[in-house]
Amino acid sequence: MSLSFALVPGTPTTSPAEIARRLGADPGFGIHFTDHMAVAHWQAGQDWQDDQLTAYAPFPLDPAVTVLHYGQEVFEGLKAYRHADDSIWLFRPEMNARRFQRSSYRLDLPPISETDFLAAVEALVRADAAWVPGAEEQSLYIRPFTFASEGVLGVHSARRVTFAVIASPSGAYFASGLNPVDIWVTTTYSRAGSGGTGAAKCGGNYASSLLAAKEAEAHNCEQVLFTDAATHHWVEELGGMNLFFVTDDGELLTPPTSGTILEGVTRDSILQLAPQFDLRPVERPVALDEVLTRLEAGTITEALACGTAAVITPIRAFRFEREGAEAEAVVPQAFGPATKALRQRLVDIQWGRAADDFGWMRRII
Ligand SMILES: Cc1ncc(COP(=O)(O)O)c(C=O)c1O
Repeated sequence: MSLSFALVPGTPTTSPAEIARRLGADPGFGIHFTDHMAVAHWQAGQDWQDDQLTAYAPFPLDPAVTVLHYGQEVFEGLKAYRHADDSIWLFRPEMNARRFQRSSYRLDLPPISETDFLAAVEALVRADAAWVPGAEEQSLYIRPFTFASEGVLGVHSARRVTFAVIASPSGAYFASGLNPVDIWVTTTYSRAGSGGTGAAKCGGNYASSLLAAKEAEAHNCEQVLFTDAATHHWVEELGGMNLFFVTDDGELLTPPTSGTILEGVTRDSILQLAPQFDLRPVERPVALDEVLTRLEAGTITEALACGTAAVITPIRAFRFEREGAEAEAVVPQAFGPATKALRQRLVDIQWGRAADDFGWMRRII
C-alpha cells in the first residue's frame, strides 16, 4: 500500500512575511528549516507505516539507538526550484529515489519505494511551498534520510527504522560564491575502497572525509579530491561532488562510477548535455599523473566539480604534496567556456528558462 504523508492537523505554519524576515537576502545553506517534516516508521516483519507530515521537531532518541553507534543510515539531497510564474518544480527526483533504494540496500536498511519517496518529498514541498525562495540561484534543498532507530546495542541490522524528509531554503553553496575553487589532492586519506560503501550516500562516507577536508582547509583549499584507496593512482571524486575535465580536443572526461564513486544526478545530466555543446562525453579511469601532466601541457583546459548543492563549480587549481613540498597544478581556463555553458544550461533548465528537452523537471505546484 502506498504512503500518503497526510498533514497532521493543527501544525503551525510560518507566515510569508516572517519567512522573508528570517531568511534575509541570503538564506545560506542548511541553516534554516521549513515548518514540517515527513516521517514514516518501519519494523521488522511489517511494512512502512505511521506516515505523516508533521511539525519539524527533534526526534526522541534512545541513547542506544543503532545509528549513533554503528552509523546505519542513508540520505539523499535534491532541490525544489521556484520559476518566474511561481510554479515549483523538482529536478529528476526519481533519480534520487532510485539511488536512495541502492544506498538503502547497501546499508541493509529497508528500501522505501520510488512512489513513497516521491510522495514524501512532494507532500513536504506542497505544505512548505512558501519556504521555496525565489531569488537568483536560491532554491529549497530537500534532505530525505533513513536511519536505524532501534535502541539496542549490538552490531546487527536494526529492526526499527525511521524515514524522514526535511527541507532547508538555500543560497549559494560555497561562501566564495561562484569563484573558481582550489582542490586539495589527498593521498593520505581514502574515501572508498573496493566492495565498500563509496557508491552509497551514507553518513559514514562523509564522516571519514572530514579529516581530509581539514587537511584541505589547512592548505587553503575548498574541497578534497580523493584518489583510489588501493594505489592512489586514479582520481575518483571530491568529498561531496563529482569531477570532470575538458580537453583541448573536445572531450568531457570523468572517471567511471564503478562502485567507489557516487552516481551523481548532476554528473549524469552533464554527460547527457555534453553533445549539445560539441563535447564528447568520455567515462574512463583517469590517472592523477595524466591530469597533472595534461594541465601543465595545456591539453586539459578546464576542470569542474558538480553536485546538487553547488550545481557546477569551476576549479582554479589542484594542490598536492610532492617530495615533501606543496605543489600546484593550475587549470588553464578556470571557469572556461565549456564550464560556463554547461552550468548556464543546467541552471536555466532548473529555473525554467531553457527548454526541458530531456523531461527532467517535475512540477509540484
Ligand atoms: C560524494 C558525492 N559525490 C557526488 C555528489 C553529487 O551528486 P548529485 O549530483 O546527485 O548531487 C555528491 C552530492 O550529493 C556527493 O556527496
